[in-house]
Amino acid sequence: MDKSENSTSEQTALGNAPLDMTGEEFRRVGHKLVDQIAAFLDGVRSRKVQSSDAVEKAQQFLGDQVLPSKGLSADEVMSDVSSLLIEKSLLTAHPRFWAYINGSASPIGALADMLAAAINPNLATWAVGPVASEIERQSVQWIAELMGYPRQAGGLLVSGGTVANITALLAARRAVLGAEVRRDGLRNSPQSRFYATVETHAWLEKAVDMMGFGEAAITRVETDAQLRMDTVHLAACIAEDRKAGYLPLAVVASAGTVSTGAIDPIKAIAALCCREKIWFHIDGCYGAAAAILPSAPADLQCLGLADSIAMDAHKWLYVPLEAGCVLVKDKNHLVDTFAHETGYYPVSDATMPLPVAYRDQGIQTSRGFRALKVWMCLRQAGREGYIDMIGSNITLAQHLADRITQTAALELRYQSLSIVTFRYNPGLKELPDGPLTNQVLNKINQKILKELQEEGWAYPSHAQIGGEFLLRVCITNFRTRLEDVDLLPGKVVECGAALI
Ligand SMILES: Cc1ncc(COP(=O)(O)O)c(C=O)c1O
Repeated sequence: MDKSENSTSEQTALGNAPLDMTGEEFRRVGHKLVDQIAAFLDGVRSRKVQSSDAVEKAQQFLGDQVLPSKGLSADEVMSDVSSLLIEKSLLTAHPRFWAYINGSASPIGALADMLAAAINPNLATWAVGPVASEIERQSVQWIAELMGYPRQAGGLLVSGGTVANITALLAARRAVLGAEVRRDGLRNSPQSRFYATVETHAWLEKAVDMMGFGEAAITRVETDAQLRMDTVHLAACIAEDRKAGYLPLAVVASAGTVSTGAIDPIKAIAALCCREKIWFHIDGCYGAAAAILPSAPADLQCLGLADSIAMDAHKWLYVPLEAGCVLVKDKNHLVDTFAHETGYYPVSDATMPLPVAYRDQGIQTSRGFRALKVWMCLRQAGREGYIDMIGSNITLAQHLADRITQTAALELRYQSLSIVTFRYNPGLKELPDGPLTNQVLNKINQKILKELQEEGWAYPSHAQIGGEFLLRVCITNFRTRLEDVDLLPGKVVECGAALI
């Protein structure tokens, strides 16, 4: 160790660790940051959703130097990066950010993350994070309640929908194939099959691949005109697979598909799975939150029929990333799937009976306190608050769909929950440089999307269905107002007309 390293170590030993801050310093830097964030949120509507020079400015700011040997003061570190992030990020907080399925993050979630990081409990075991674990338990119960899923189900919070879905299918694998699968893997198990439509999110391919089944284990079920699972075809697929010697392991239904928000016929699928004794999983990452609405579609009111369900709090519960939730009706399935004996974690005993540790119910060991932001959002909004926000998002999507239908050069394709897909089509047979084919329309709509995003007034995304490139608006955003969606059809037509 040379002398300079030694003197740094001495600073730490003297109570001046380079990463520590005095209360006074924390207050000064923190208050400034809170003021900056508050001003950003107050003014977000008047900003552009996207800044055209974001990548360039970020690269300029970061430069290409090696890890600096000398650190900076907290004031210096904070001041330039907070401005960069506010000025140059793609603003998911913007009222006209409508891309992918990305909730607008609640401000209280940001405060919760700060508090959670300050306390920094580890939710691997109840003993290390007792208060935090109890908050997670209540958050999971409240999420179950709002979706109409049994309160006593097992469940936990995870990073997001992909992991929530994979966790559920791991539980299904263990429940159906038995304890041996954890010791022997799949080598002694029958060849299994999973049933889903092509509209199912790509987490499913990841899941069957990672679980060792391979992507060929997915049997694709046909859809109806609204892109919902065709249950007659599902029954036929199951019968055919059984005849060929496969084991139908799980049906995966979507409560709100990623492209169009389609809700599979949950009730009918549940009945079929019950008859056929097949695990029934629902990917409710997007749509399950809408089950809270008194006017929810009938199939969303049947989520409780599934053996397991995944939902994303960072989508329609407006919790800042990352927060997904997995629920398994029989909580023993999670423990059977994930628990391991170890000699290095606290064990519960008769004098201090603790619930089963979260590390024994999911993939992670060390786990952060993401539950706090979930719990604080649920507490701030309450049931009525969520009914109001989610209901408003759906009403605005329906309004947009009506406006599109009334606009001659636009074609509405699908509207379900808060997703609307449509395209620009001027209805001409010929353009100056040739016929207006589907391929040409696809190119025009791609350009429209690019221009809308680059201009920064709004930020929709796209869907590709049946060979058509569609513009797609997904409103999981509590800042979106009627005036925002009202203006979009006109902007699209204006942009399209300038391109032909
Ligand atoms: C229906 C659906 N399922 C799963 C996912 C994956 O969720 P995450 O991105 O949180 O992993 C998404 C993401 O958009 C989704 O829309």
